[in-house]
Amino acid sequence: MSRWSHRHVLDLAAFSLADFTTVLELAQRFRSLPTSGARRLPALQGRLVTSLFFEPSTRTRSSFELAARRLSADVQSFSPASSSLSKGESLLDTARTYVAMGADVLVVRHACAGVPAAMARALDRSGERVAVLNGGDGLHSHPSQGLLDLLTLARWFEPTAPTPAALAGKRIVIVGDVLHSRVARSNLWALTACGADVVLCGPATLLPDGFAAFVQAPPPGQAHDPVECRGTIRIVRQLEEALPGADAVMTLRLQQERMHQHLLTSLDTYHRHYGISHQRLELCGKPVPVLHPGPVNRGVELSGALLDDPSCCLVEEQVRNGIPIRMALLYLLAAAEPDPFTAA
Ligand code: CP
Repeated sequence: MSRWSHRHVLDLAAFSLADFTTVLELAQRFRSLPTSGARRLPALQGRLVTSLFFEPSTRTRSSFELAARRLSADVQSFSPASSSLSKGESLLDTARTYVAMGADVLVVRHACAGVPAAMARALDRSGERVAVLNGGDGLHSHPSQGLLDLLTLARWFEPTAPTPAALAGKRIVIVGDVLHSRVARSNLWALTACGADVVLCGPATLLPDGFAAFVQAPPPGQAHDPVECRGTIRIVRQLEEALPGADAVMTLRLQQERMHQHLLTSLDTYHRHYGISHQRLELCGKPVPVLHPGPVNRGVELSGALLDDPSCCLVEEQVRNGIPIRMALLYLLAAAEPDPFTAA
């Protein structure tokens, strides 16, 4: 395992190719653990993982909590509706309260971009040793989703050696509501770092032209790009142009809760132009996998028949891969042992 230097995981823009390789290799080892019987490794025994989800989640929160338990960590959950936030306690004081109870890792989700990073900075300044893992912040970033998508694609292309190299030169089409998608942003950093060429496809209201330059400069606050040579990003407006020659199709949820203007004519019109079905996939010219981070608007981003077809629709495979990816992240941030399997 190569050297891991991150104290927190906030944004995949900060990951080098070696970082992606480390996470994928470790996740692949965790993934090959038996799925029945004694499934726990002692790697995080005595550690406390706290999930601070200020925004709803089904997959990410449960998956992090399961991953922590599979590494024998103690797990603590927080529910905003029944917390002292309603009495005026601030986000940061809430985080400090859990750190005072002994949290080693805070997994943080918030509707506002930058909240996990702001927490990490404030806790670092006060000398706390806690690691912050971004569980999704506003439109900014969803690192564990980007990584589980990467593992899912790498396993499709190279089932026995799912490394970042499996993505080099592949053409990945990302379709839909890129504007509101932290998943798309994390995937743009991850996929281009691995040398994939990304084609973004969607209407101008949900995919502004500026996304073609998304990875050309590191984000504010980051001094340099740790990846020397990235794959390309291209924007096309029609699926008929995007799909021929694609190696994989990634669809995105229409995030209607974040749309405050009339960005869509109707869901039916969206499905007609950008919905993915078996028939549409034939445009790719070969069998290709279809991904979606979930939750899916069934019959909008994906036809119901495609969503229910595991031979090409990898939505459930993505969910399964989320557990070993999150085990890898928790392990890298909180374990004392250099190898999780030495103490097993
Ligand atoms: N993909 C994803 O982040 O799903 P949840 O909102 O259910 O966690």
